[in-house]
Amino acid sequence: MRFNQLILFLFLAILLLQCGEEKVLAIKDKMNTGPPKNIRKDIHSFAEPEVAKAKHLELNLLADFDTKTLSGFALFDIENNQADKIIFDTRNLNIEKVTLGENETPTIFTIGEEKEFLGKPLEVVITHETQKVKIYYSTNPDAAAVDWLNPQQTAGKKHPFLFTQGQAILTRTWIPCQDSPGIRITYNATIKVPKELLPVMSASNPTEKNNTGVYQFEMRQPIPPYLIALAIGDLEYGEIGERTAIYSEPSLLKPSLYEFADMEKMLIAAEDLYGKYLWDRYDVIVLPPSFPFGGMENPRLTFATPTIIAGDRSLTALIAHEMAHSWSGNLVTNATWNDFWLNEGFTVYFERRIMEALYGEEYANMLAVLGFQDLEADVKILDDKDTHLFLDLEGRDPDDGMTDIAYEKGAYFLMMLEDKVGRGKMDGFLKTYFDTHRFKTLTTEEFIYYLNKNLIDKYQVEVDIDEWIYGPGIPENVTKVTTEKFVVVNKVVAFIKENYDFGDLEVSDWTTHEWLHFIRQLPIVDEKDLMKRLDNKFNFSNSGNSEVLAAWFEVAIKNGYANNILPNIEEFLIGVGRRKFLTPLYRAFKENGQLEIAQNIYKKAKPNYHSVSTQTMDKLLLKGGIKD
Ligand code: BES
Ligand code: ZN
Repeated sequence: MRFNQLILFLFLAILLLQCGEEKVLAIKDKMNTGPPKNIRKDIHSFAEPEVAKAKHLELNLLADFDTKTLSGFALFDIENNQADKIIFDTRNLNIEKVTLGENETPTIFTIGEEKEFLGKPLEVVITHETQKVKIYYSTNPDAAAVDWLNPQQTAGKKHPFLFTQGQAILTRTWIPCQDSPGIRITYNATIKVPKELLPVMSASNPTEKNNTGVYQFEMRQPIPPYLIALAIGDLEYGEIGERTAIYSEPSLLKPSLYEFADMEKMLIAAEDLYGKYLWDRYDVIVLPPSFPFGGMENPRLTFATPTIIAGDRSLTALIAHEMAHSWSGNLVTNATWNDFWLNEGFTVYFERRIMEALYGEEYANMLAVLGFQDLEADVKILDDKDTHLFLDLEGRDPDDGMTDIAYEKGAYFLMMLEDKVGRGKMDGFLKTYFDTHRFKTLTTEEFIYYLNKNLIDKYQVEVDIDEWIYGPGIPENVTKVTTEKFVVVNKVVAFIKENYDFGDLEVSDWTTHEWLHFIRQLPIVDEKDLMKRLDNKFNFSNSGNSEVLAAWFEVAIKNGYANNILPNIEEFLIGVGRRKFLTPLYRAFKENGQLEIAQNIYKKAKPNYHSVSTQTMDKLLLKGGIKD
């Protein structure tokens, strides 16, 4: 080799090496700023999905209303990463036997120590080849997810009823499973029930009873276990639109069909906003009043409280909310309960967009203002760290995170972003967000990365995301929503407060939301018999609207007017198990120095409540002091 050739060779070699180094640096760089990996551990599940993960469930259960037990098996197809064990979550279950494979070879299993809220890990010994794990088990009558209702607690009073509530970590009390929102499975089920009853699930559903009492279900789309749900009762089916229908007890079917007549239109509006509905059907089951929530977004079949049947379609935002979860929550799911705001904040924002599309901006603004009032009230009573969007629920029940922070601060965060970029870009962003992450789970960190890339950097807007997500309270740049309708209400309230009189007020065209705003503004000091006179004039204590009743009873208790209407309050608290109504009323009694009244009512009402509600009320009334 000649000298200059050698120089050239050395030169090339150095160049190549440098290039290589640059490449490595580039890769390292990418690793630093690249999308965060979805590896944050779910602190509310014992499962170790990276070792062995459930993919499909075949559930086979007999519902016995005499012993209040579900019994049978859960057969899982698993993804096995050369594992020697697979771990499931269980709580208060009787595990009888576990077998592996098609030929059902018995295997060793151990049940670990009980942890508060979480239950016990079920560790099953498997081989590297294991693909099927079958768990024979039964539930206990006090399974926290399951409400076994006697006929007296139903509308028809003749037949018993059952419903389950999985969110957040209760599915493990009726199915041994990897109970983390970050793990998705498909499922099939065979459910055997007494012949006079019809079972329905968050799956493909029968529309009428058969004479065997055995029913098959299929959920083809992968879902997290908290969305597996079952209801059994004397149910009838009534169609609303092509893809929408109602299940309810016979006497509630007609009123429900009237109340939710716009469901198909809502679905079309939702699709127009954020893309195709991917769950085939959207049905609603109207449950007995002990259902502890307003609604629960079980896929294909929302579970709903009968307290939204107001007779005038005024409380249907709740249906829009649960429907919106078909995108935010069910399609794109929070990876852990610390990321709960990703489910609920997006859903409240989406819910109001559906309502706006159907009933106009003024309507949506009223919902937003009432929501903001809820947010401010929660910020006042919560510890600072519980007012962050991203939560730290280590060592706590995920139920503690179910405050208006996730819902309203979450929604107002998206509204602020919409203010920055404009509605067109915001909608484009959300539509792509749902599409990109469909049937996936997302951590807050992953969301932030996606948001920066696809909205904030893309449109070069200035916004302090950390303040909203990792900081306390309500940031300064929150959207200020107002509505003419409430300005009018405010004037009426001001007049009443000044004159203790309400002569010829023009309130005949007020809707439920105006009345709610009105009631919420009432004075905390009741003078000149104002509460009584208001009640005489507007008959709030006998309102047929559950939201109006709950709001009125709350101010009544706070104003020392409760004693005048105690039978009405008692009837409401005994008849309704919806936690959102119970907590403020019992708490108001307590704070008004009337704990004993609250405890007496609770004693009578408790048998009517689901465990989700009794758990909260026990803490509030029996063990002294809770925050939410
Ligand atoms: N998914 C929730 C209910 C829930 C949350 C159950 C956390 C268990 C743990 C449901 O979508 C919901 O938010 N329901 C609200 C209605 C709504 C219009 C805000 C309710 O039940 O009040
Ligand atoms: Zn929700």
